[in-house]
Amino acid sequence: MSPHATNGTSTYSIACIPADGIGPEVIAAGVEVLKTLSEVSDFKFQFEDYDWSSETYLKRGQYIPDGGLESLKKHDAILFGAVGAPSVPDHISLWGLRLAICQPLQQYANVRPTKILKGTQSPLRNAHTGDLDWVIIRENSEGEYAGQGGRSHRGMPWETSTEVSIFTRHCVERLIRFAFETAQKRPKKHLTVVTKSNAQRNGMVMWDEIAQEVGKHFPDVTVKKMLVDAMTCEMVLKPNTLDTIVATNLHADILSDLAAALAGSIGIAPTSNLDPTRENPSMFEPIHGSAFDIAGKGVANPVGTFWTCAEMVRWLGQEAAADRLISCMETVCGNGVLTRDLGGSANTKEVTDAVCAEIKKQSKS
Ligand SMILES: NC(=O)c1ccc[n+]([C@@H]2O[C@H](COP(=O)([O-])OP(=O)(O)OC[C@H]3O[C@@H](n4cnc5c(N)ncnc54)[C@H](O)[C@@H]3O)[C@@H](O)[C@H]2O)c1
Repeated sequence: MSPHATNGTSTYSIACIPADGIGPEVIAAGVEVLKTLSEVSDFKFQFEDYDWSSETYLKRGQYIPDGGLESLKKHDAILFGAVGAPSVPDHISLWGLRLAICQPLQQYANVRPTKILKGTQSPLRNAHTGDLDWVIIRENSEGEYAGQGGRSHRGMPWETSTEVSIFTRHCVERLIRFAFETAQKRPKKHLTVVTKSNAQRNGMVMWDEIAQEVGKHFPDVTVKKMLVDAMTCEMVLKPNTLDTIVATNLHADILSDLAAALAGSIGIAPTSNLDPTRENPSMFEPIHGSAFDIAGKGVANPVGTFWTCAEMVRWLGQEAAADRLISCMETVCGNGVLTRDLGGSANTKEVTDAVCAEIKKQSKS
């Protein structure tokens, strides 16, 4: 991370990759909010757009052009929309763009906070704002998404395919340590380690053992071990018993969509793909996909992207501005300016305008 100073003001260089579906709509909304935030702060942003998408893939045969990753490395952070289009198989688009950035840039910690925002409702009868406030830490570099495996005898009755999960002590340990550090910084200081170590008796047992070893260095963090199937029940039935949660690439991917839905909508939750060593820029994106069923209609919920932008601003070292953005976003939700997925009738632009107006208003008070 290397913000450069211009006339005494820090300027952060942000690579924007809006990509597919509602990606361009929510990233445009996010950039507008970030520009407004910078107008009332003592730092600036310099945005550079990358037109990497399924459309450009179909034209030139690759999502990331030659030298593209090197070009990304010159930025302080990456703001990503979503990838996925009906014209390209999902495994090509995901591996061609999103995973092709996360894995080589060693963004090994995927951080997914979720909470019930003010003014919104959880589908859970007894859960209200404050009852569900979690951070899911997802392993983002290996595991079930390591890309190991293959297919042979295609189309034959004896066709064979393998999808091999890879768990290395190095990667599991660094991620679990990161999860403990995250739990330690939160008021509850509570970590739930999720595995499936009854059925998966190798990699998952190693996860449990490493969690126990690393936990010895964090005596102030309470740890609970839970199987992933039991975890789904816990999330639905006792949301306030959970706080920080750590799980594998696949398990946490699924649990975090459930978490977002339990908080009210997949449209509100953020994701940070972090390289905690800060050797490479980290990448920030809303948790949702390209939602092509609503693309181009101007109704996508931009709140997940605003929260994402706040997490990016926090990672860049601007804590107060990040808190301000979250507070403005929550005020707007609390005032009932909500998109359809949250039971409201506002469109993307109306929510964006309301958040920008709130940022300006709060800066004067
Ligand atoms: N990180 C990523 O880029 C990412 C993540 C998930 C899925 N995908 C891709 O996105 C495409 C669609 O996947 P999907 O349908 O499984 O998931 P999705 O998240 O795109 O959509 C699921 C449902 O949630 C709704 N939704 C999502 N975001 C919303 C928002 N901001 N506001 C309002 N409603 C919203 C959609 O309309 C849809 O009904 C696929 O190609 C998939 O591979 C990409």
